[in-house]
Amino acid sequence: MLRSHRCGDLRADHAGTPVTLCGWVHTRRDHGGVIFIDLRDVAGLVQIVFNPEISRGSYEIAESLRSEFCISIAGEVRARPSGTVNDKIPTGAIEVAAGEIEILSRSDTPPFQIDEHADVDEMLRLRYRYLDLRRDRMQRNLQMRHRIVSAIRRFYDSEGFTEVETPMLTRATPEGARDYLVPARLHPGSFYALPQSPQLFKQLLMVSGLDRYYQIVRCFRDEDLRADRQPDFTQLDVEMSFVEVEDVLESTERMFKSVWREVLGVELADFVRLPFGESMDRFGTDKPDLRYGMELVDLADVFASTEVKVFRSVLDDGGLVKALIVEGRGGLARKELDALVDQAKSLGARGLVWIGVTPDGLKSPLDKFFTGDERAGLLKATGAGVGDLVLIVADASHSIVHKVLGNLRIRLAERFGLVPEYDPGDPDYWRFAWIVDFPWFERNEEEDRWDPIHHPFTGVVEETVEYLETDPARVISKSYDITLNGWELASGSIRIHDADMQSRVFRALGIDEAEQREKFGFLLDAFKFGPPPHGGIAPGIDRIVALAAGESNIREVIAFPKTQTASDPLTGAPAPVSDEQLDALFLRSVAGKESERESSRQTGTAAQRKSESP
Ligand code: AMO
Repeated sequence: MLRSHRCGDLRADHAGTPVTLCGWVHTRRDHGGVIFIDLRDVAGLVQIVFNPEISRGSYEIAESLRSEFCISIAGEVRARPSGTVNDKIPTGAIEVAAGEIEILSRSDTPPFQIDEHADVDEMLRLRYRYLDLRRDRMQRNLQMRHRIVSAIRRFYDSEGFTEVETPMLTRATPEGARDYLVPARLHPGSFYALPQSPQLFKQLLMVSGLDRYYQIVRCFRDEDLRADRQPDFTQLDVEMSFVEVEDVLESTERMFKSVWREVLGVELADFVRLPFGESMDRFGTDKPDLRYGMELVDLADVFASTEVKVFRSVLDDGGLVKALIVEGRGGLARKELDALVDQAKSLGARGLVWIGVTPDGLKSPLDKFFTGDERAGLLKATGAGVGDLVLIVADASHSIVHKVLGNLRIRLAERFGLVPEYDPGDPDYWRFAWIVDFPWFERNEEEDRWDPIHHPFTGVVEETVEYLETDPARVISKSYDITLNGWELASGSIRIHDADMQSRVFRALGIDEAEQREKFGFLLDAFKFGPPPHGGIAPGIDRIVALAAGESNIREVIAFPKTQTASDPLTGAPAPVSDEQLDALFLRSVAGKESERESSRQTGTAAQRKSESP
């Protein structure tokens, strides 16, 4: 080893110890005849002192040091003179008096300071990701990621699960996004798809009798990117045989509790259970942030016999009139209220009714149309008091009302400071929930068909099987999601394990026999050979780590992530290839044609776009 100790590990009881350290020059300060260097390595910073009286040669070299030079020093640890102890860093009680120094490699002036507090443009950070990763925050995030994944592995290993790798070059697995395709040179005109998830392989492994499988696996989806989405991302993929919904829930919840205990030192409370319908009613979303209230209130009863036109027509059409109460914000300026109306409209609402509750009554453009009973009923139903703001959305479409109010709830909670600060040690900060009893289908109006809310292999609750052909909206799935603080963390289900049933579900999705055979014949065939009942789940590793680390974008916990437009400023991927390479693959590029480019940018299905709200 080129070193005897790591910089950040030195403490007061090392005083008097000769050490050799390696690391990067974090900062250099010249203090009239003495040079101080903060030397940084993976373990942290330590102060090095170069004094010409100890070694003139080393002092002169130290004079030439610049930020991010990689150096090695030999010297002796000593207690810092009294009055110069730095309580802010773990090595603050000591310093190292350097005798020798060697410059291991020099550095150009870095494009940004390797400093926690430097606010650096993200493109620049990604272009020089190896420097960005030198930052303490990024080092901590990557280390936390490692600890989480290793705790997960320990959990499943101890529960008798087997990790199995599944192919990366495979056939499409429908999870609702576009596939990344790989041309097959040996099969001109044919393509592999990179897996959107190992869904079908893990089911086949259950048919194989593997019983309990898990995998930390890379998945690929060509879809619109957001703070919680990357084109390639990592799942913890799990599948179990001979289980029912409760078994998967119990084992997964225990896994999360054990990881949080091990990595964050916190005992999680039991996860809340929320039926999908209740979650939508109360929070307007199936991934509710339960760290604050502001629940939606249904005003159908209050306005049951109203003459207020916007409410009357919506209620007559079977629509919803629902409200959100923002405590203490009844005095918002007109400009701010108009901005809220604009936001609601941009989310799809036709309008937003605002009502300020004042000591002299309600302040709202609609107030003059309300009856006395409606005013009283509104205040009673919402619980709004003087000083509060009531926001109402009315629409014939339930999903629009929920999307708009669900989104406003999140934005207003952020704006008015209702979201608690990151506090990993507080069990109350972690508001995990199981969302259960999902409908199996959702209507895709654009395409005039029914799509699966999850994937086509999801089991159907027996009592609702009869509606598959007659009334898909009433079919309930055996699926479940985990949400945490407003993010969907995991999704899973008990699967269909009967070929006839699977075929019937495909038909309900409009996939005829020929297409079934063509795309999923291998699964239907496997189901002819004694498939066990099985089910599983897939939590997203990137999202788990981001939330655990208090980050709001999964890019912060991925070593080499892609930008919002799915490119990598570091390597320049994706990049054009030569005509020779294309020829070998029997391909020709039409990239110059703007129209094709445009259509290829339109990623994601209607189901996907819908699930983005809020
Ligand atoms: P699903 O498609 O819901 O289910 O994905 C499971 C989990 O994977 C994570 N995830 C993502 N993370 C980052 N970037 C993305 N683009 C992305 N897409 C998904 C989320 C999500 O909850 N095969 C099923 C699981 C099953 O039924 O067992 C599946 O993939 O955390």
